[in-house]
Amino acid sequence: MNAPTATPGERKAVNLHRLRQMLADGQKITMLTAYDASFARLADEAGIDCLLVGDSLGMVLQGHASTVPVTLDEVAYHLRCVARGNRHAWLLGDLPFGTYEASPEQALRSSVVLAQAGAQMVKLEGGWTVGTVRFLVERGIPVCAHLGLTPQSANALGGYRVQGRDAGAAQLLERQARELAEAGAAMLVLELVPAALARQVQEQNPGLIVVGIGAGADVAGQVLVLHDMLGITKGKLPRFVRNFMAEAGSIDDAVRRYVQAVRDGSFPDPALHTY
Ligand code: KIV
Repeated sequence: MNAPTATPGERKAVNLHRLRQMLADGQKITMLTAYDASFARLADEAGIDCLLVGDSLGMVLQGHASTVPVTLDEVAYHLRCVARGNRHAWLLGDLPFGTYEASPEQALRSSVVLAQAGAQMVKLEGGWTVGTVRFLVERGIPVCAHLGLTPQSANALGGYRVQGRDAGAAQLLERQARELAEAGAAMLVLELVPAALARQVQEQNPGLIVVGIGAGADVAGQVLVLHDMLGITKGKLPRFVRNFMAEAGSIDDAVRRYVQAVRDGSFPDPALHTY
């Protein structure tokens, strides 16, 4: 997989070892989505640890109502753009809907396309992916799992609503997180779940890099969709989003404020952004 190199005096490129060290040291990990070289460069220069070429590009770039129409070629195209702008951040690519569900072999073929486009880690959604995660990890592909609100199955989940609220759903999510970690997932995005549940998942899996979005502050790191945190996305936003542009003098400044707020623990605020 492509590894950005550092020149002397520069910050080192982030790798999985570094991310695990940050988790062990209790240093918060920062992640944003990115879809092009300009924003990737800007976020990288602001010190972001991880960039995700998310299938959210279907909504924020393409204007679709969901992530479902996004194709593998589209994610690969945006990965190549981001990889050209990025120098240091760990780069994740989303496996889109329909590109990994049929079999582990299909997931491997799709992951290879993303790896060749610059992804250092692939992300896939759902607790059922345990076997696929193991298959990919055994073949040298770092994997980020995604539980809670999994946007590719939002129709089946009854819309964009908080997951894991009742005891049964919380127990299921905890079990899935444990199985995914045992299968070798290095990272887990937890979306739209109560903060107490996210904290439990992190505590139960101390070696798993849990990155929250609407999952409270007691996890290893945070991710937001770039267009949401810059105030570009219009309409009603989920309460976990903070518009960092509202308080900033420039886009660079907004991203730096996000990085700083995650690192110092002031974002997410339990009173404002948490369930
Ligand atoms: O597609 C995406 O941007 C994501 C993030 C919301 C985590 O999956």
